[in-house]
Amino acid sequence: MQEKLCDTLKREGQGHVLRFMDGLDDAGKAALEAQIASLDFAAIDRMKALLASGRTSSVDLNGLEPAPVAEPDESARAKAAKRGEEELRAGCVAVALVAGGQGSRLGFDGPKGSYPIGPISSKPLFHFHARKILAMSRRYGADIPFYIMTSETNDAATRAHFEENGFFGLKPENVRFFKQGMWPALDPDGRIILDAPGHIFMSPDGHGGILSAMKSQGVIDDMAARGISTVFYFQVDNPMVEVASPEFIGLHLLAGAEMSIKVCAKRDPQEGLGMVVSRRGRCEMVEYSDFPDDLKNRRRENGDLYYKFGSVAIHIFSFDFLRREAEAAMPIHVAHKKIPFVDEAGAVVKPDKPNGYKFEKFIFDVIPEAKNVLNVAFDRAEEFSPVKNAEGNDSPATCRRDLVAKWRRWFNECGVNVPDGAVIEIDPAFANSPKELMARLIGGFVPVFDGRVFE
Ligand code: UD1
Repeated sequence: MQEKLCDTLKREGQGHVLRFMDGLDDAGKAALEAQIASLDFAAIDRMKALLASGRTSSVDLNGLEPAPVAEPDESARAKAAKRGEEELRAGCVAVALVAGGQGSRLGFDGPKGSYPIGPISSKPLFHFHARKILAMSRRYGADIPFYIMTSETNDAATRAHFEENGFFGLKPENVRFFKQGMWPALDPDGRIILDAPGHIFMSPDGHGGILSAMKSQGVIDDMAARGISTVFYFQVDNPMVEVASPEFIGLHLLAGAEMSIKVCAKRDPQEGLGMVVSRRGRCEMVEYSDFPDDLKNRRRENGDLYYKFGSVAIHIFSFDFLRREAEAAMPIHVAHKKIPFVDEAGAVVKPDKPNGYKFEKFIFDVIPEAKNVLNVAFDRAEEFSPVKNAEGNDSPATCRRDLVAKWRRWFNECGVNVPDGAVIEIDPAFANSPKELMARLIGGFVPVFDGRVFE
């Protein structure tokens, strides 16, 4: 063990991490050393301070009001789409996807993006995201680089998945994977938890980790070198997302916003969406789990929810804003969790109640730092049906239902009747909008609804 690392650990009050060192073989020692070298002690100090303050929620609920939400009419949207198209044509748009989480709530073993969602093809979530980027880059004759944030747990599997699928038709040089950071968990006294004699328990640092990861792994530099000025951001679980939508990009640019947020009316007060709120004229987001029931249930006289709009985690960032925020420390959120640990004899114990704290950063904590924030309302039937749970709401079944309904509307818009009960699937690279579908029909495509994918 390098003496410097030992000294640092001891100085930081974490010398116990080394207590089983003598019993480790060379490989075990090297692996533990690598973990220790990756620790960010400045962040750990902030975690300790958070625990010591006794504030397990860093959210202040004073002075909140619903945030202003723009509901642009059709002509404003059409004007915005034109502006967004210019940005796309100029090759200034990049897409960033946060895909560091596992499909654990879904009961799926593997990167969530490899979950088979195609209603006919069983193609994975990644297929739909990547093929939309392909469609948009063909439509606008410009590269749209695709940056995918993975984590230690799924990086290799995610890269392998893209390789096996030929990058879904994208140019490999335009797809870039980068790993988010891992953070240790702390016990109530602020001590790092070992989950095996030679191993520190670590977990991904939250999707807010995207900023530090973009900086440390050269993504910011790569975007700058490519002349990117607008970054479209989304989550892996929603195959309905209109990736790099020109309309959304244009609304963001015309508003002169540094960050824009798509919001929709909540399905019910308990729906798990981050709440867009404002405090002293500045916009921010409060996660649903931190938003108390009395606020969630509050209604206006007309029956509408007072806090009506939730974020679906589809954002646009101005590149300069991302670059600026990548230099700043983000707030840290804490969660009390059951964390496996080793006892004094070196045996692994799986606790039956929470025994330690995990920490995460949330990307939406940068909202108050943005000079101008635009919240835009949209129709959730068109763009939001995430795969989060194995059954019930936001499950694979509801997502496939909503995808099929969307494609059915496209055909109807083109004047084509779809037989009742027909299952439809359109490869986004075949048609990524009703207009593109119409062009196919004019070009001689005759749809037969016999259960095959239109591709
Ligand atoms: C999330 C949002 C919520 C939003 C909702 C919309 C948070 C905390 N909550 O809820 O505000 O309204 O989606 O669907 O984000 N991820 C990483 N690394 C991590 C953790 C997560 O890349 O360390 C990625 C996941 O792969 C996923 C996304 O972030 O793409 C969201 O994470 P998840 O835990 O599924 O958040 P939700 O509770 O569904």
